[in-house]
Amino acid sequence: MRFEASSRAAAQLRSDCLVLGAFERGELGTSASTIDRAMRGRIRTLLSSGDFSGRAGETLLITDTTGITPPRLLLVGLGPKGQYNRRAWRRSLPAALAALTRTRIRSATFALERPGERELDDFYYGRSVAEISGAALYRINDLKSTRAPRPPALDRIVLPVDQDAVAEVRRGLAAGDAVSQSAALLRNLGNLPANVCTPRYMANQARELERLYRRRVRVRIFDEAGIRRLRMGCLLAVTRGSEEPPRFIVLEYRGGRRGRAPIALVGKGVTFDTGGISLKDPASMDEMKFDMCGAATVLAAIDFAARARLRLNLVGLVPVCENMPDGRAVKPGDIVTSASGQTVEILNTDAEGRLILADALNYARRYEPEAVVDFATLTGACVIALGHHFSGVMGNDDALAQELVQAGARTDDRAWQLPLTEDYAEQLRSNFADMANIAGRDGGAITAAAFLGKFTAQLRWAHMDIAGTAWTSGKDKGASGRPLSLVADFLMRRATA
Ligand code: BES
Ligand code: MN
Ligand code: ZN
Repeated sequence: MRFEASSRAAAQLRSDCLVLGAFERGELGTSASTIDRAMRGRIRTLLSSGDFSGRAGETLLITDTTGITPPRLLLVGLGPKGQYNRRAWRRSLPAALAALTRTRIRSATFALERPGERELDDFYYGRSVAEISGAALYRINDLKSTRAPRPPALDRIVLPVDQDAVAEVRRGLAAGDAVSQSAALLRNLGNLPANVCTPRYMANQARELERLYRRRVRVRIFDEAGIRRLRMGCLLAVTRGSEEPPRFIVLEYRGGRRGRAPIALVGKGVTFDTGGISLKDPASMDEMKFDMCGAATVLAAIDFAARARLRLNLVGLVPVCENMPDGRAVKPGDIVTSASGQTVEILNTDAEGRLILADALNYARRYEPEAVVDFATLTGACVIALGHHFSGVMGNDDALAQELVQAGARTDDRAWQLPLTEDYAEQLRSNFADMANIAGRDGGAITAAAFLGKFTAQLRWAHMDIAGTAWTSGKDKGASGRPLSLVADFLMRRATA
């Protein structure tokens, strides 16, 4: 997809279709009014005929466009004028794109009423258009044997903007385009079934990044013997019941000053989580193929940094394995020694994500990182707390946690901080080991984070629980691409700070 910003008037821009918004009750915004005048009031006439109500998501394609350059006009309903805001605008775009991709239209000029500058500045306007379009045009990487439907023809989107906004909007479009391409990688990895997307497959994907971004991305992969040499007893405990060999993937992206401390990104990569001996309920267990979305977020973040040539240094630390029940599998009550030397009593084998993250977080120390952020589909409790709208943020550094929350607010990839105080760590007490891996149902998202906190002392660390946001269930089941927008924003700001 090509994205352009132009200071020429929307009615004069050359493309196959001009996309315009109309509110309910026949009201037009400023850009639509201008076009309506050029068309001698024919849009208003049409609206007063009652054929188009302006309800959010409604679309109407018009081919009689005398008075303006584009040969087609797509009207998009924006809902009530008084309630129009960034959220309504965000929702109108996918509706427009869905209507366009049902046709063979190849290029479109987007002149939907823009939310106020205070709600969405020029950079984020460009960025959002590119990201929303990328997401709307994403086609799921299914394994259906029937012929794939013809891909949409749309390959060029033009944004008419004021002269003084052109540069910032272009910058935003480029950033958003990079984010959406990396988000497609994240979604593709998430959507693949666990018999395809194994730990070895994830490692090959990391290698692929090294090949794509020669010199800027370096990858090192530890196999089971290597993991044993690293004394990652927690990761080894989780993988024990599986026939699939585990991997520990280390990626390094060098875009910043030599010697600048890197940011470490750590991702939970459980390619399938049955719960192990603490076996899960069968209902929607298939969705546990998404339990590697934290790992995929890290690969996608490295991909984005390299694609956008961010001026910073990153390390990606990705422990990957399956969690399976088996004669050899780890059992409730087993005690293992983590790479940090601390012992853990595994009371519930389904609390496996925190175990593999513990060893990876401990590994981050050797980089003396500027900050460490981990991403994990860690707890059902986080979904109970925040639903599917917000990712959970916790950590030992409120400024870092709030940096992530703010990045989420700017990109509408929202996250909310939960309180991680010492009280929660006390609940992990064990009679037999340094700690237990669970602490009862109450505050489950936070006690999981408290467990991770035992392995991040002296690090500036934040944890993102993406259990409720990384994928959607039901008819539109699939990886969402979250929280890559948030992460990209966080990294871009760090790169220019
Ligand atoms: N991967 C799951 C968390 C999860 C569950 C994410 C459902 C999304 C939807 C994780 O490994 C897990 O099983 N967590 C347990 C922890 C419990 C045993 C303390 C959970 O949340 O039930
Ligand atoms: Mn689990
Ligand atoms: Zn899990």
